[in-house]
Amino acid sequence: MNTTIIAFFNNKGGVGKTSLVYHLAWMYSDLGYRVVAADLDPQANLTAAFLDEEHLEDLWSEDNHHKTIYGCIEPLIKAIGDIAEPHLKRIFDSELIVDNLALLMGDFLLAEFESQLSQMWIEGLVGSQRAFNGISAFWRIMQKTAVVHKADVILMDLGPNLGAINRAALIAADYVVIPFSLDLLSLYGLRHLGYTLHSWRENWKKILEISVQNNVDAESLPIGRMQPIGYVVWQLPMRLDRPAKAYNRLMTDIPKVYRDAVLNQPGDNNISIENDPNCLALLKNYQSLMPMAQEAHKPMFHLKPADGAIGAHSNAVKNVYKDFQGLAYKIAEQTQLKKLSKFTTL
Ligand SMILES: Nc1ncnc2c1ncn2[C@@H]1O[C@H](COP(=O)(O)OP(=O)(O)OP(=O)(O)O)[C@@H](O)[C@H]1O
Ligand SMILES: [Mg+2]
Repeated sequence: MNTTIIAFFNNKGGVGKTSLVYHLAWMYSDLGYRVVAADLDPQANLTAAFLDEEHLEDLWSEDNHHKTIYGCIEPLIKAIGDIAEPHLKRIFDSELIVDNLALLMGDFLLAEFESQLSQMWIEGLVGSQRAFNGISAFWRIMQKTAVVHKADVILMDLGPNLGAINRAALIAADYVVIPFSLDLLSLYGLRHLGYTLHSWRENWKKILEISVQNNVDAESLPIGRMQPIGYVVWQLPMRLDRPAKAYNRLMTDIPKVYRDAVLNQPGDNNISIENDPNCLALLKNYQSLMPMAQEAHKPMFHLKPADGAIGAHSNAVKNVYKDFQGLAYKIAEQTQLKKLSKFTTL
């Protein structure tokens, strides 16, 4: 399948990963792509964004975990078999009547896999087949998901940590987008994140070499491309007391740290975020539109007057559409996403 898998990852919490995956999934679907939004975060916030409480209660009741990502890996966790077929939830917008968007539903039980997987990363280095199966599980689930949905693109939402689940999810990804908020902690975290991504890629390469020595079928394992294609920043609520000097430094330091730590291209180039080719988008703080959209279980750019988007909000809705359309086009340009007839460069 020629499906592009993109992970949205930052181990820092609350930087907009889930909101981005949610809105981009809808945007690509609006643009005519066949999309899967995959919730690989045991917090399952992406699933909660798509589904209302009634659905969630039903999904996470005793009998229904087989429909989630946990259901796919349960046989592995319980050591009774290999991954199960993924179950995809079709997402419909009653007005637009699209059927090209699907959700691979998340599950808090996924956290059970963390410690086993952690051990598998060690066992992979000594050639354990069980470890190869476990570490490649998310990639193999994504391949099956791609076939089931005939997906053009899979967007993966990950949790805020540097644990074994995220590591296995990232080697399943062709591309990585790093979301963060414009603050000092994000800047420090970005350096560490860049180095971590390098070490994970190298570690996977070693495991692949060992798998070759152990005659493991190369087709059953991912290549672990996880190529960073840029970052998305959003502005936290404006702090009027923030000194302009510190803010301006952030605007120039972030591009430098990204090039140095994530791309391994050190240099003294003083580009600001606004002119940085690695910045995929500098998003606004959408303020009250965001909770309004969460309440309506819709992306912000689908909000209608009936949802409360009246007056200045209705103009804001149009602007949000443009922001996410621009971001979707940029990501499509940076990846192998095929061009659709509706696709035009802004
Ligand atoms: N551009 C934005 N404008 C306004 N609010 C935003 C924006 N992006 C994200 N938020 C809000 O910030 C909060 C955190 O966002 P989100 O859940 O997407 O982050 P996350 O990185 O997925 O968090 P976690 O690390 O816990 O998974 C949410 O309440 C979300 O509504
Ligand atoms: Mg999240």
